[in-house]
Amino acid sequence: MARFSCYHHSFITFLSFILAVFLEGVTAATFTFINKCDYTVWPGILANPGSRKLESTGFELTKGSSRSFQAPTGWAGRFWGRTGCNFNDSGHGSCATGDCGSGEVECNGAGAIPPATLAEFTLGSGSQDFYDVSLVDGYNLPMIVEGSGGSGECATTGCMTDLNKKCPSELRIDGGTACKSACDAFGNPEYCCSGVYNSPAACKPSMYSEVFKSACPKSYSYAFDDATSTFTCIGADYSITFCPNVPSLKSPKDPDPKPTGTIDDSGSDTDPMQAAALSSQWLANLATGDSTRIQPFSPTQLGFAKTIFIVLSLFF
Ligand SMILES: *[C@@H]1O[C@H](CO)[C@@H](O)[C@H](O)[C@H]1NC(C)=O
Repeated sequence: MARFSCYHHSFITFLSFILAVFLEGVTAATFTFINKCDYTVWPGILANPGSRKLESTGFELTKGSSRSFQAPTGWAGRFWGRTGCNFNDSGHGSCATGDCGSGEVECNGAGAIPPATLAEFTLGSGSQDFYDVSLVDGYNLPMIVEGSGGSGECATTGCMTDLNKKCPSELRIDGGTACKSACDAFGNPEYCCSGVYNSPAACKPSMYSEVFKSACPKSYSYAFDDATSTFTCIGADYSITFCPNVPSLKSPKDPDPKPTGTIDDSGSDTDPMQAAALSSQWLANLATGDSTRIQPFSPTQLGFAKTIFIVLSLFF
């Protein structure tokens, strides 16, 4: 009897393992966070509604270190870096910038309190991934996104400039460790692209968004800055680097990178109309939560899971 239940137990364990592997979904991409700042950064991860949480929602990344996460096909969400955090011995605390309000290192489904530089991703399922670095919620630290091993444009994007040094005083937070968006600072509909300004035709760059755009030409500087700020790649892995130091920021199609510390603009040599069409499609997908892209399990996986459940139920 004991022998039988031992066998029985390991069989159940085996089936559970198989089930877990299948329900996990197919890995679409590896995200690697790299901290090149000369201080610790506490990245935050927020999955969009309909996407599952990754292995962590917030963690400590000491200077010079890196950490990788697997994400399934169709995953969508955002990443940011928290700075100036203080967590006590029992793990309670908060951060000076990018805090998520959870009171602990894990953000547990909470997003960044602005201002914070954001990296936003919508992974495809055998189709294009969309990604951008956004300053729409302000800026707190330099961050770039680089794709590797993918096909398509796959341009590097982000903001290498220390915008805290160029932040207009009316947007600066105490201590100058972050820079608010004009929308956040003043709340005017024309800065927020809200109310009658809620369309690409009505909402134009402002004096403030242009400060952001000139410092970080590839980043979103206001809500409808799509055409020059959204990038695509197929089947890549991505690195998210905080404080990238003057690097070989070379997009795959640019044979002659500029030797300066700014990101070259070669990624925006796409036909602007095509870029606009892609980004409006992407926005529509974000708005509707496009079920074909966000579908976490394939019918085959669901069918397999059902079979496993039936087999398991025969044992209990
Ligand atoms: C950590 O901070 C929390 C919240 O401020 C507090 O309740 C707790 O006692 C602190 N724990 C330690 C070990 O200091």
